Amino acid sequence: MPHTARIWNYWLGGKDHYAADRAVGDQVQQFLPDIVASARADRAFLKRAVTHLVLDCGIRQFLDVGTGLPTADNTHEVAQTLDPECRIVYCDNDPLVLAHARALLTSTPSGATAYIDADARDTGRILAAAAETLDLTRPVAVMLLGILNFVGDDDQAGAIVRDLVAAVPSGSYLAVAHPTTEIKPAESAAAAAQWNKTATPPITLRRKADLERWFEGLDLLDPGVVTCTKWRPAAGDQADVYQVCGLARKP
Ligand SMILES: C[S@@+](CC[C@H](N)C(=O)[O-])C[C@H]1O[C@@H](n2cnc3c(N)ncnc32)[C@H](O)[C@@H]1O
Repeated sequence: MPHTARIWNYWLGGKDHYAADRAVGDQVQQFLPDIVASARADRAFLKRAVTHLVLDCGIRQFLDVGTGLPTADNTHEVAQTLDPECRIVYCDNDPLVLAHARALLTSTPSGATAYIDADARDTGRILAAAAETLDLTRPVAVMLLGILNFVGDDDQAGAIVRDLVAAVPSGSYLAVAHPTTEIKPAESAAAAAQWNKTATPPITLRRKADLERWFEGLDLLDPGVVTCTKWRPAAGDQADVYQVCGLARKP
């Protein structure tokens, strides 16, 4: 059965995918030729956001839900390269990500990484397990990149954001990346329909305004919710991608 973590890994140029995953990845790419650029722009946002959080915001703890399969520049690699004392908790519900968890648990000796095998909707369990590695009385960056699109129910998606943000103190951050219908509406809808015919879990596309609602009550950092290539790009102007993102601070 084609599965998101492996299809995503295929688009990112990883090596952990099967023929069924590649077939769906290629079908989706026929509808959205820039989907590979979009996946890579999401990962590049992860790198820039984590770098900013460690270097400029003093964040040393990360809760990354919807980890994905290990590829280059996972959250712990980016964070611990900047400060080896960073502590990272990953959470995913894909058995293959679990099988690869050891590769995600290669922490620096002075920091820590942990992996929780749980559904994102089970926030109580995630927070209880995360508290074994993270000090939830000190600021944490909650990372929800490319995951809420697999929670189709808007109320459930909103509840995940609310629960996780409520559990961390003032000075914590929320990062979200999510595919949007707004860049190429017809092509995106066709690609999502193709995905939902063949791959798991089903995908839901949302609008920039939906992300802005999740950030309500938080201080959204410049440049707000934008396509991933436009979030503090390292170099010049780049084409829009289908993934939008934002980073906000809990006041
Ligand atoms: C598109 S990948 C994103 C990976 C990474 N966060 C990134 O942005 O590069 C989505 C990940 O979310 C995981 N996932 C999907 N639904 C989930 C759920 N309900 N609970 C936990 N993880 C889920 C998938 O297994 C997959 O690894």
